[in-house]
Amino acid sequence: MSNKIVFEKDKRLSDSYVWQYQRDYFDRSGIDAWVKDVPHYATSNPFLAACYARMVVRLAQDWARKYPESKKHPFYIIELGTGSGQLSFYVLKNIKRLKKELGIEDLDICYLMTDFTESNLKYWEQHSALKPFLDENRLDFAIFDMERDSTFILKNRGTEISPGSIVNPICVFANYIFDTVQNDAFFSKNGELFDSLITLTTTDDNIVDGKLVELKKAQMSYTMGKIQGQRFEDPYFDAVLDRYRTKLKRSHFLFPTAGLRTIANLKRLNDGKLFLVSTDKGNSTIGELESMGDLFFDHHGSFSLMVNFHVIASYFEESGGKAILQTERDGVTTHAFCAGFDMDELPEFALAVRENVERLSPGDYFVLHRNMRENHEQFATETLVAHLAFAQWDPHIYRRFSKQFSAPAKKMGRRTESYLLSHLPDIAANFYYMPRQYDVFFDLGFLLHSLQKHEEALKYYLLSQQYFGGSFNVFYNLAICYRKSGHKDEAIAAFERALEINPDFAEAEKFMRYLKKGD
Ligand SMILES: C[S@@+](CC[C@H](N)C(=O)[O-])C[C@H]1O[C@@H](n2cnc3c(N)ncnc32)[C@H](O)[C@@H]1O
Repeated sequence: MSNKIVFEKDKRLSDSYVWQYQRDYFDRSGIDAWVKDVPHYATSNPFLAACYARMVVRLAQDWARKYPESKKHPFYIIELGTGSGQLSFYVLKNIKRLKKELGIEDLDICYLMTDFTESNLKYWEQHSALKPFLDENRLDFAIFDMERDSTFILKNRGTEISPGSIVNPICVFANYIFDTVQNDAFFSKNGELFDSLITLTTTDDNIVDGKLVELKKAQMSYTMGKIQGQRFEDPYFDAVLDRYRTKLKRSHFLFPTAGLRTIANLKRLNDGKLFLVSTDKGNSTIGELESMGDLFFDHHGSFSLMVNFHVIASYFEESGGKAILQTERDGVTTHAFCAGFDMDELPEFALAVRENVERLSPGDYFVLHRNMRENHEQFATETLVAHLAFAQWDPHIYRRFSKQFSAPAKKMGRRTESYLLSHLPDIAANFYYMPRQYDVFFDLGFLLHSLQKHEEALKYYLLSQQYFGGSFNVFYNLAICYRKSGHKDEAIAAFERALEINPDFAEAEKFMRYLKKGD
């Protein structure tokens, strides 16, 4: 028999144990968080990366045009709560390409991947896809804990970044993070504001060594705690909070406390010039906040909440900045915020923000992606190839369509085929290894193989072997392609490797005998 226990009672949400639970989860899981539980495609895909890169490159370009002296100093992009590094990789690739195409390779744009846990940093350090950017000094890593840190040290440059050490505007990427770190919760009722104080109740078998085994098994309830006097140490936070006393008639709302503290801390690193962009599930209008109902925790190993972008916008407005909020959408939305400079004096940048936040945004892409993912079997191959191009030749998308491309019954038109084949190298180059990742190289090789392009197929089968160690199918297909393209010794060696894995496969045995006889 298990007994009910009050695990914690009447805590401000930001002081609650739930955030320690969240930290423990990410610290313990490291890269496995994305393999097992935490959804991440919506916030770290190549389409989104291209949108973000277009905005920051235009900011650096416009800024350097307006203030030529700024070219002597780096433009830093700081990614908060980076996680796997997949977004960083795609943004870095896009920045490199855009700088070249725009003729601004002299601008020093340095991308900083940050996270609170060493386990993620160690993963990035040994990642082969990130190494070229490190070698070219375009990338650096830092431990930055949004709940504790206000300065950080660049792992490779060895520089400490502290107040005043940055000259140019700082770009900050904050995807799927404002709900991961401490939030407060408030209740507004008839012109009065209350802290929504949280009580966690659970059964004793859900507690081990003073920690909850599973947060989702705990019941959460709230009581109203009257707010007296100053609630926050930062007067801007109190001013923001006070706005909701009258704006909301009767609702709970979240307040991204650690997120706002981080923004305030980052603004101190230069003289307050900052561009922030964030994509997440969230609320950005009073109407949405009013219809939010109870505070909702979405559990998937860690937990997530709805980010209150309206509060973040209020903070920027209150402290002299500006918010460019995307209009409401179902699903994730993207929002941009500026402080310390006037966006409208940087026309290319201002246009890029409007284009990528409101006109065709990462959220719109994700809605289309979901529809394609669920219904791709209905579409002709030219539609699938067009979607792949739209998705920036994303291996994750190719994987979904790959059977349709290589199925003999689905003959591709000549132009579509040649268009797709010319971009296979881009799909391969967009591969970012994560544990238990899908082997897209095999599929790319298989497409070329099934089109009788044996020599070209070899390259992808070899990449499959390099990243995934080689299965029977990889060695067998390698052997066939070597044989068809006249590499007899390599074909024998590959048949031998295939037979080591599956000694009973008579076909491989037969082929090898022919080859050895000189056939
Ligand atoms: C939900 S994941 C999002 C990862 C990535 N931004 C994305 O969109 O897929 C949250 C990330 O924040 C990191 N994190 C958790 N607590 C943090 C903190 N206090 N400071 C900085 N990062 C934190 C986790 O390690 C994890 O990488």
